[in-house]
This record gives sequence, C-alpha cells and structure tokens, in this order.
Amino acid sequence: MCGIVGYIGPRDATPIILNGLKRLEYRGYDSAGLAVLTERGVQLRRAVGKLHRLQALVEAQPLSGHVGIGHTRWATHGEPSQRNAHPHVSDRGQVVVVHNGIVENFLALRDELAAEGAHFRSETDSEVIAHLIERFLSRETGLVEAVRQTLQLLEGSNAVVVMSALEPDKIVAARLGNAGGIVVGLGEDEMLVASDLPAILEHTRRVAFLEPRQMVVVQRDAVHLMDLDGNPQPLQPTVVPWDPVAAEKGEYRHFMQKEIHEQVRGLTDTIAGRVDFEGGKIYLDTLNLTPELARRVRKIFITACGTAYHAGLVGKTLLERIARVPVEVMVASEFRYADPLVGPDDVVLAISQSGETADTLAAMEEGRRKGATLWSIVNAIGSQAMRIAQGYISMQVGPEIGVASTKAYTAPLVDLYMLAVLLGDLRGTLPAAERRRLVADLRLVPYLVSQVLEREEEVIAVARQLKDVRSCLYIGRGINMATAYEGALKLKEISYIHAEGYPAGEMKHGPIALLDEETPVIALAPRDPWYEKMVSQVEQAKARGAPVVAVVTEGDTLIPPLADAVLWVPPTPWLLSPVVTVVPLQMLAYHIAAMRGLDVDQPRNLAKSVTVE
Ligand code: G6P
Repeated sequence: MCGIVGYIGPRDATPIILNGLKRLEYRGYDSAGLAVLTERGVQLRRAVGKLHRLQALVEAQPLSGHVGIGHTRWATHGEPSQRNAHPHVSDRGQVVVVHNGIVENFLALRDELAAEGAHFRSETDSEVIAHLIERFLSRETGLVEAVRQTLQLLEGSNAVVVMSALEPDKIVAARLGNAGGIVVGLGEDEMLVASDLPAILEHTRRVAFLEPRQMVVVQRDAVHLMDLDGNPQPLQPTVVPWDPVAAEKGEYRHFMQKEIHEQVRGLTDTIAGRVDFEGGKIYLDTLNLTPELARRVRKIFITACGTAYHAGLVGKTLLERIARVPVEVMVASEFRYADPLVGPDDVVLAISQSGETADTLAAMEEGRRKGATLWSIVNAIGSQAMRIAQGYISMQVGPEIGVASTKAYTAPLVDLYMLAVLLGDLRGTLPAAERRRLVADLRLVPYLVSQVLEREEEVIAVARQLKDVRSCLYIGRGINMATAYEGALKLKEISYIHAEGYPAGEMKHGPIALLDEETPVIALAPRDPWYEKMVSQVEQAKARGAPVVAVVTEGDTLIPPLADAVLWVPPTPWLLSPVVTVVPLQMLAYHIAAMRGLDVDQPRNLAKSVTVE
C-alpha cells in the first residue's frame, strides 16, 4: 500500500526520493507525489497513475533542494486524483505531510477544522494532519511539539512524515500503530526515512525501526527518537544483511519471474545453518522453543492472509502428521473477531511475508490478549510481526517485490516442516529413525525445485493453450489441496482470469456443474497418498468434457493418457511435495499473465502489504 520516502542531506533530494518511490512501486499505488524544500520555499509535484508520470512532471518542472518527502498513494478516502495525491499542505503552506494508514476520526477532525476556517483541498483523511499541525505550530511550540500534539488527536493506525519550511533542518516522522512502519536510514551526514527498506537500502544498510507510538526527529547529522509524550527513547540501529542487488530485476522481465527462479537459492538458505544432516537434527534458535514449552503446547493456531494462509494449511498437515500436535488454521481477518478458544497453553503462529499485514498483526494481538505464546514466520527483517512475537523463524529469501507471492510461499513450507520435526523431537512424538529420515529428505528440496524450473518451456506451451480461457478450476487433495488454492490464487491475482481452488473430493458436490469444454481443470496429482483418488477425479473431469492439465510425477503412466497436457514434477517425499508442485503453477500463472500483456508485478487493485483492515 502507500509508500513513503524522505531525505535530508547534502545531495539533491529529488532523484533520491523518486528512486526510492520506484523501489516501493511493488507495494501498489495509483498516484504519487513529492515535496522538496527549494530556494523558493516548498514545491510540490503530484500525478495520477504510475511513477513515470510524476517523473515526466518533474522533468518538465524541475525542483531541487536538500530536504524532501515523497509518497505513492493507494486510494482509500477519495478517488486517485492529483489533488488527493500526497503530499498535503496546510493552509498557510507551513506544513507538508505524507501519510500511510487511515485517520479513523477524520470526519470529526475535519468538521472541527473547517469550523475554524481551514480550507480542504482534497477528499483525503490525511489532509487533516497538515491542518492540525499548522494549528499547533507557533514560534514557541515548534514543529516537533506541534506534530506531537497532533498525533495525540489521531485515532487509528497511522504513519506520518512531516516537513516545514519554517524548520528546514529536520523531518519529523511518527508511527502510531501497525499500519505501515517507519524505518530511518542512517547515512554519513545524511538521513533517510521510509515506509520500507527497499527505498533506502542502496544508500545505507544501517537502519532503525520505529515501534508503534514512537516519533523521530531526523536531521542531517542526528536522529532523536521519543515516545508520544516526548520522552527520549534509545535508538537501536541494526545493520540489514539484504543485498540491494536482490531488489533489482536483472536479466528477468518481471520481478515475479526472477523470484520464482530465486526459490532454489531461497530454499538452500532456508535450510542452511538450521539442519544438522549428520545428527538428523533441526535448530531454530530464534523461535525460543524450550523442551518445556514444546511439551506443554496444547494446540497451535496458525493465522495469516492470502498466500501465507495457504502455507498455513500445508503447515497443519505437517505439524499434525509429524509432531502430532492439533492445529487450527484461520484467515487473520476472521481470527481477530472470532473470539477463538485460545489459552495460555496454545501457540498463535502468524505467517507473513511483509510482517506488516494489519489483519495478521491484529490476530497476533488477539492471541497475546488471551495469553498464548506468539510465534511468527516472517520475511521482512525487523517488521512488526517479527518484533512482537516471542519467537520467530525468518524466511531467508531476500526482498520479495512482485505482488503475487512465490518464494515467500515455498520458504515457509520448509520452515513449517522443520518446525514440525523439531516439535515432534522435543515432544517425544517423533521416533529418532523417522526424524533422521525426514531431515535427510530436506537436503533434496532445492535440487527438486531446480528440476521443475528447468521445465519452464513446457509450462509456456501450456500457458499458450490456456491464456484466453475465462475460468479455471484447480483441484487437489490432502497435502496438495492447498496447492490447488494457491495455484488458483496466483492465476486470478495476475491474469484476472477467474480461478477457483477446490478439494477434489468436493467437485461432485457443486463445482462439477461448471465443467464444459471451455473450463479447464488443473489437477494436482503427484505420487502422494491421495494419488489413486486423484486418478478418478481426473477421469470424472474428462467425462464432463473439461480439458485437463495434470501435475504429475515423472514416470506416471496412468494419468498422462487421460490428460490434455501434463506438467511434470520429480519424485518427491510426499510431506515436501507442496514445495515442488506449486512451482509449475506459479510459472503457469506468470506466463499466462505476461502473454496477456498485463502488469505482472503490480496487478490492479492489489497491494503487496495490506496495512489497512
Ligand atoms: C496481500 C498480497 C498477497 C499476500 C497477502 C498477505 O494480499 O497481495 O500476496 O499473500 O497480502 O501478505 P503477508 O505480507 O502478510 O504475507
């Protein structure tokens, strides 16, 4: 969703901000803007649509200066338009604001300000922030205090970044809740502020994250962190290991394609350092899982959204089969309001690529309120879901830029597998010989995925056949039921073709009515314990005239003669098969969307990290 970048230092702020916004494009947006403190005061450029339009505007009407803030907006209040784009400026032009989140009480605040004579130029909730700060701003109060007083009045979960021509030596930023983080980049005689790391990584890897209800005064050579009462707080910088090159497209046409191919390395890094192949042991140090806790756990509640939720569904099978712990999986937007039967002997395990998804964070809060142990599996280093958890597993896949998640799906599958083995070991529910076999199986995973990637040409041929269909059904059973859900989600997200994932055994209870020659069925039928069942599902689909594309294990001779097209996967231990079977489906969705000429990395209406409810 909305992206924020700010710069203060000796260099020209404009290209740094534009470049930073470019790096945040993946979050999804429909307008963009920036404000720079120039010799003629604060100047604003804003444009609807993609960043190249803002870039063109800046080329036509250049602006330069050493302090500036920029924003990509994903519309919530008011349509995407130039006047609704950020930054927003106060009436007397003294305060400039960019904002991420929703000011829940903005209607009341706007009425109050309007009654005092403020003129609103946009339909956004964000504009009230600029007017409020200006209301408090005076020579005695100063910008920092005026921002602080304003923040006290805002309800909801917000991130705000402010600058003022009256105090050109600083940018003030604040984080009020879980909607969007704020990270400060600490450079040499220059500082950056952003909503996300990719915007600043090429300038510095020394960063400090704000906690909710903290604000920060950023100057060229100093950073002061405080709480909302103005009490100084210690700044705790960390050094981010991510390679900025990882956020470049390189030889690939789209980030999504690059990220699909990065899964081999991502899975290698996921396993590295956590598996002792000789001893057949798993080490997940950051999870803080003691033998006492492992034995005490009554139930694990997995909560997540979108692709991460599908990873959770696979996790249920893994944890129940391997560790024999009962698991419930719930989408986070439901979990937070379901009054789930969670208690102190339960674990709430959140899975999130961004670690900033509002619903997932709220579900974690609900778990904490009920006394559960909080764990997370997270990709974005330093994100909220990582910090509020008592233990976490970090996905080792580097930044994921494409909105449709790929490498941040397969990595948590392996994390959950390792967690299941570790839990089973500590609980005494997993015999040692079995544990050693399961651990040994892990070694193969990156190689198996690489074998699927080598078959990209075959996937492209199938994509050509499917690219114009109107609707598709994905079916699977058992551990690959979630693969069917995830395959369908990938297709609908980026190709806008209607797709549904279904447990294959449920076909006869409804969806089979949809089948005809124009509705292909993608059947997940690898050699796993449900294979025989899938053979008959494929036969039933064929009997209704539907074209069938089957994902099958190399060497299969039963299904290929029945299917219209086949996507091969190598023989894989069944508990790990979802890591492998999803890969051809990711490539299929990618190529169909690319053939349809669509914006694969930034599909319409979607955002990479959904920081509003
Ligand atoms: C958005 C993205 C999805 C993602 C979901 C959960 O909807 O478009 O790709 O799966 O959020 O995101 P998270 O960062 O919590 O994994």
